[in-house]
Amino acid sequence: MKRIALAAAGLAAVTALALTGCSGTSRGGDETTGTDAATAGFAADATIGVALPDKTSENWVLAGGLFEDGLKAAGFTGDVQYAPASNTVAEQQNQIAAMVTNGAKVIVIGAKDGKQLGTQLQQAADAGVKIIAYDRLIENTPNVDYYVAFDNYKVGELQGQALLDGLEARSGHAAPWNIELFSGSPDDANSAVFFNGAMSVLQPKIDDGTLVVKSGQTEIAQTATQGWEAENAQSRMDSLLTANYTDATIDGVLSPNDNLARAIITSVKQGGKDIATFTVTGQDSEVESVKSIMAGEQYSTINKDTSLLVAQTIKMIQQLQKGETVDVNDTEQYDNGVKVVPAYLLDPVIVTKENAAEAYANNPNLLAIVEAAQ
Ligand code: BGC
Repeated sequence: MKRIALAAAGLAAVTALALTGCSGTSRGGDETTGTDAATAGFAADATIGVALPDKTSENWVLAGGLFEDGLKAAGFTGDVQYAPASNTVAEQQNQIAAMVTNGAKVIVIGAKDGKQLGTQLQQAADAGVKIIAYDRLIENTPNVDYYVAFDNYKVGELQGQALLDGLEARSGHAAPWNIELFSGSPDDANSAVFFNGAMSVLQPKIDDGTLVVKSGQTEIAQTATQGWEAENAQSRMDSLLTANYTDATIDGVLSPNDNLARAIITSVKQGGKDIATFTVTGQDSEVESVKSIMAGEQYSTINKDTSLLVAQTIKMIQQLQKGETVDVNDTEQYDNGVKVVPAYLLDPVIVTKENAAEAYANNPNLLAIVEAAQ
């Protein structure tokens, strides 16, 4: 009974969408009659798998709920799963293989380790299942059809520029400034993209002496944070302070996300350093970090609105369902080692205390935090 009702509701929603889609252009017609069986669409109430990694930041927690609700509202049967905190790679591989066996038509994947899904994605391709890499690129396989994410290189550039701006605004002295560099987990394809984007801004300033990395650790492998775990960032920061800053000031740190930024702040505070003159970047607009920014501790974060990313993904799935051409806006940047994956990239926004009210104007939770602090 419930299933039939859902299917009917889904049909109505998709029909409504199809009608809107056809009203402005003649696009739907030709493409739906294409002969490529794999792109000719599928049932409007089909099962859609969503395989998310472990919950290393708030955005992953939010994404799960938004996919559950959004897929249901679009008439699909959602199958949303997280890889557990331990043994995540093997578990995610099993989850994806089971989704294929259970007849999913599209599988959306936020990869735990984007280099280790080749076997499962071959099974998916053999069964005609479309794969959308979500937020993190999946590498070394031809069997990833689309990528949907915020522009990760731009995230890095914004973080690099924010670090420079913060040093200027907060350090209380002119250059040179002492900084350290952190990057994300080596098994996440995003980590290098964020780091390279940031270094495109910071490396020239290291080269000309504006910035000094006292530890000398400027290679990505030296700066990595295994598993995106806060404890790992905190203990590396503790070691950096002990080894290099007992008699020197640490002016700032490039942190790739909010969770690590807060761990770095804890370490700097415990090391007896002045947080008011220290700059640390972040990403994700996590609740605790927005509070920290408003309290004058963390300097910046990035707003990557998860609801927009999930909505764009569901739009892709609807286009696949109808056999339409899937919207992409980048066909050059995301080479996964085997092919350039067609991507739809959304625009990230840098947030500091100054523009927080404007940046979160459409996010009642975060806006309330900002307004309470003003
Ligand atoms: C995401 C970030 C997140 C990190 C850790 C990355 O792939 O793009 O938003 O902070 O994973 O969860």
